[in-house]
This record gives sequence, C-alpha cells and structure tokens, in this order.
Amino acid sequence: MTAETPSKDENIVWHQHAIDKNFRAGLKQQKPVVLWFTGLSGAGKSTIAGALEARLAELGHHTYLLDGDNVRHGLCSDLGFSEQDRRENIRRIGELAKLMADAGLIVLSAFISPHRNERQMVRDMLAEGEFMEVFVNTSLAVCEQRDPKGLYKKARSGEITNFTGIDSEYQAPLNPEIDLLAGEKSIDALVEDCLQVLRERNVIV
Ligand code: ADX
Repeated sequence: MTAETPSKDENIVWHQHAIDKNFRAGLKQQKPVVLWFTGLSGAGKSTIAGALEARLAELGHHTYLLDGDNVRHGLCSDLGFSEQDRRENIRRIGELAKLMADAGLIVLSAFISPHRNERQMVRDMLAEGEFMEVFVNTSLAVCEQRDPKGLYKKARSGEITNFTGIDSEYQAPLNPEIDLLAGEKSIDALVEDCLQVLRERNVIV
C-alpha cells in the first residue's frame, strides 16, 4: 500500500439496513443466543447439541447447529490443529455464529475450542448475554475410554500430534453459563439441564 492509499477501514463503511436483528428475532418470536459447547473430543458436544436442537425445533424455535467436524470440511478446510489454526478456526466460527444470531437464530456450536482466550474472543464479539458457554464436562479418562473415532489411540501412539488432552492443552471454562456432567447423566437429562437454564434466562418460555 502506498502512502496515498487510504486503509481498508477508511473505505469500508458499515451499512445499517432497515431490517435489523430485533425485527428478525421478533418474527421468529425468540431471543437469539449462541450456545457455545466446549469440551474434549469425545465428550459428547455434538450429540448433546444435536439433541437439544431437536428439542428446540419441537418447541417451534429456529436454530442452526455448527459442528466442528463438519465446518472443517468446508469453511475451515484449510486449517489444521496448530495453536494459530485453532484460533483462526474459532474466529471464523465466532463471526459466523454472530451473523446467524443477527439473523435471529438460536445458534448451537460444538467445537473443542480449547483455549479460554479464544472463547472470550467470541463472547466479546456478541452482545451482552448473547453468548452462553456450555461446558461438556466429561473427564479425559471417559473420553479416552469411549474413543469413538479411534483418535486417542492414534494420539497415544504418536500417529497424530497436537491432540487435545494428550499433547495439547484443554483449558476448562472457569465460570460457564451451563456446566454439564456429561460423563454421568443421560442425554435426555443433559438436554433438560440446558432447557432449564434457557428458561431461567428467558431465551425460551
Ligand atoms: S478446535 O480445537 O479447533 O476447536 P474442532 O472442534 O474444530 O477443534 O475439531 C475437533 C475434531 O477434529 C475432533 O473431534 C476430532 O475428530 C478431530 N481432530 C483431528 N485431529 C485433532 C487434534 N489434533 N486435536 C483435536 N481434534 C482433532
């Protein structure tokens, strides 16, 4: 860029459209939120988020589920599991979740998202009260014993590296909006735990 070239920010002006988040959410008769499921691989994030989404749909809510393994086939197919790539993965998902909340949706996201600062980054992108951290609190021992994709075995043998919980750190949430004892309760009970908090916070009636 030359000295005369204005920076991108100076040339790009935010356009405020007439139909806004409140209007879109009002049409759907719901309060948009992002339910951010975090936890180890195999903890049950996708399963619980999927079951909760089905329940919310039954109640007539408009939802969208963003799932780590699926998003990594498209939007984030160029990213791996280095610290830098995971951060970029979470940044993109955060921006996407923000757009979806702006569309008036209840967004459910299921990503390991191992670092507190990245989850905080997404919280900071959203309006006050819109980000709800859901800790899928399943111990490493239980996840490793389940090993649904055989990845813990590969990580232990060194076939894959930077695997969360084995040779890459997972930072558990310190104060999540919802803490799910996912290694101990049934899926139905965990979905009920989520619904209860959503009712308490007036997200659903
Ligand atoms: S995140 O750390 O960037 O949030 P994300 O949730 O998108 O991770 O993807 C996690 C999924 O990728 C895991 O469930 C697992 O199936 C797969 N995976 C492949 N390699 C790794 C790795 N090194 N660490 C964690 N998950 C991995």
